[in-house]
Amino acid sequence: MKKTLKIYNVVGARPNFMKIAPVMEQMKLRPELTPILIHTGQHYDEKLSKVFFDNLGLPEPDINLGIGSGSHAVQTAGVMIEFEKLCDRDMPDLVLVVGDVNSTLACSLVAAKLCIPIAHVEAGLRSRDRLMPEEINRIVTDAISDYLFTTSKDADANLLAEGIPMEKIFFVGNVMVDTLLKHRDQAVKLNYLKIINCKIKEGGYALVTLHRQSNVDDRETLAKIVAAIEYIQNQLTVIFPVHPRTKKQLQKYGMDRKLASLKGLVLLEPLGYLDFLSVMSGARVVLTDSGGLQEETTVLGIPCLTIRENTERPITVSMGTNQLVGTDYGRIISAVEKILEGNDIRGRIPELWDGRAAERIVDIIGKLV
Ligand code: UD1
Repeated sequence: MKKTLKIYNVVGARPNFMKIAPVMEQMKLRPELTPILIHTGQHYDEKLSKVFFDNLGLPEPDINLGIGSGSHAVQTAGVMIEFEKLCDRDMPDLVLVVGDVNSTLACSLVAAKLCIPIAHVEAGLRSRDRLMPEEINRIVTDAISDYLFTTSKDADANLLAEGIPMEKIFFVGNVMVDTLLKHRDQAVKLNYLKIINCKIKEGGYALVTLHRQSNVDDRETLAKIVAAIEYIQNQLTVIFPVHPRTKKQLQKYGMDRKLASLKGLVLLEPLGYLDFLSVMSGARVVLTDSGGLQEETTVLGIPCLTIRENTERPITVSMGTNQLVGTDYGRIISAVEKILEGNDIRGRIPELWDGRAAERIVDIIGKLV
């Protein structure tokens, strides 16, 4: 009988779920592959985790390591200890990790030391900002991975510059875009803002998301962003689904009451994939510090103002609709004003962001059997 390849597909936090969904789907079509879904439990709230499984048609995880929140060391070490026990019991042939969260790093480290080959989806992205925990996760994961699947050619160049051999690098496109294209029509039809009876000003609405440690943990930075939101909601409605980390910080600094009093601001709980995509699809402009949203807005052709000084996804700026505006109040509001005056940033869709990245990845993995 032909051997099958037992693959551990690892997810931990919200942005991982939409990346793994198309990969799992493609693997299931191949009898020579046995995909197993491992959830580390880094995100455990229903709104950050379960709803994505339901929306994306992801199967229940085969195993949940149940790690939960903690400092970087506590969380990473917790995942490593449990993942090592699992691998020792049930040696997989390949560990596939996605993105750049702590779970990505933790499971890669364990696999590397057990000599289990590692595939990294979304390899090679670099912000060159080592104050960002995700940058450390990216660099280390890439250094020890065996199959590096990239979303753009700049990522290939980053990997080559770090000494990763060309044979390990595969430019396949963007799995997050696979998921976006698959669900876009359904999400648009959903019309989430109508369902929740949300009143929108005539000029439309801005969508804001914020959760980056460097933006929400620092009081001064968060205050500047809150002031910008206050200004913007006078011009157009602002929809702001609040991440649990951000909620905690807003409460800690006493900024939550201020936001709650703003008439043009609609504060929401974190949204599921389809509800969020429904809101994003109709936005006039998106303001965010998320990595994934920079890519999704580029595909949707919606102007994106990234509240960071750098990005690991430069193609969304050079080709797409993304613009880095940092955390300075003046820069943020003047960029919004320009868009409202009709100076939209028009972009193009990057190469291979065509909905077939997972198929390419699984084709390559299938050849390993
Ligand atoms: C993590 C990822 C980040 C990703 C983000 C998406 C790392 C280093 N960071 O950041 O790259 O963009 O997910 O959301 O891996 N919390 C809850 N419920 C949960 C999970 C978290 O309330 O289900 C709260 C806890 O207070 C926790 C805090 O959010 O301490 C931060 O969670 P954590 O998983 O450590 O990082 P994120 O900020 O979510």
